[in-house]
Amino acid sequence: MEKRRERIWARIEAADVGGFLTYAPENRYYITGFTGSSGYVLMTAQETVLLTDSRYAVQATAQAQGATVVMHAARWLDTLREQVKRLAIRRLGFEPGSITYKSFLELQDALPGIELVPQSDVVERLRMVKEAAELERIADAAKIADDAFAHIAGYIRAGVSERDVALELEIFMRKQGAAGISFTTIVASGERSALPHGVATDRVIGRGDFVTLDFGARYNQYASDITRTVVIGPPSDRHQDVYALVLRAQERALAGIKPGMSGEVADALARDVIEDGGYGDYFGHSLGHGLGIAVHEAPRLARKSEDVLQEGMVVTVEPGIYIPGFGGVRIEDDIVLTTDGCARLTHATKELLIL
Ligand code: CO
Ligand code: CO
Repeated sequence: MEKRRERIWARIEAADVGGFLTYAPENRYYITGFTGSSGYVLMTAQETVLLTDSRYAVQATAQAQGATVVMHAARWLDTLREQVKRLAIRRLGFEPGSITYKSFLELQDALPGIELVPQSDVVERLRMVKEAAELERIADAAKIADDAFAHIAGYIRAGVSERDVALELEIFMRKQGAAGISFTTIVASGERSALPHGVATDRVIGRGDFVTLDFGARYNQYASDITRTVVIGPPSDRHQDVYALVLRAQERALAGIKPGMSGEVADALARDVIEDGGYGDYFGHSLGHGLGIAVHEAPRLARKSEDVLQEGMVVTVEPGIYIPGFGGVRIEDDIVLTTDGCARLTHATKELLIL
């Protein structure tokens, strides 16, 4: 934690602020190690203060090593004002992306005479590159998702509903030690598989359906995110062709992604394959996103993304083709950028499973 705080401070030093305040739960955890659901972090060059409430007195003191833990008053902003005064902060950095306009007005109101200086994505940029211990946790979360896919492949058949499948996935992951799911489970079958974000419904899965499963486990505060598409047999030639094209695009991206590449160039690796295959209009979303404490975080692998990939970043690679009235395919892996390429963290089979 000490190293992280030093790195954060090094990034805001140039802004000449006396303190830095974060509201974002992910950043609160990243800076202090505190896993409670409520709190704020106020940093200076010398000190890190965690403001939380009395429900978390014991937990915060145990978890937030090296930080000053302060139980705030009924109005937390009153306590913030006292701390800002104690630390002699005149210019305070804050995260414009993690507070609402209402919160900003309240902050201004609570700190008269203090200049609020926006500091965008300071912690988010640092969080992009994972430490070894973080990589282990994401790999553990990915392993749970892999095992869940193997399990669900034996469960899905014509006659079960999307909701049954989602529930079975979630129960399985919880039994493997997951704290929960990392986002609402997507089970989209038949024509619904043409919806990139089709959350599970009561629709009953039937013959000739593609079934897209997009899910993840949360484990030790870190998330995994995997997508596999299966088909309920017998598949048509079109099922086979569309699946093969998405898989080719995904593997092309996995083979080509490496440090130094921009998010836009990475995105194009897969997009070019799908365009050449004649389905460019059916791949509407971006190739991938960073993954860590949050299931969607920086960097972005997308058209117009200038983010530059670096060793240690964890991102998803998830091309898809969605054909209205027919169905869709998406294949998503979690990867870590290595010295000269990338390594997969998810390993579930990508052969087209005919169930
Ligand atoms: Co996903
Ligand atoms: Co994803």
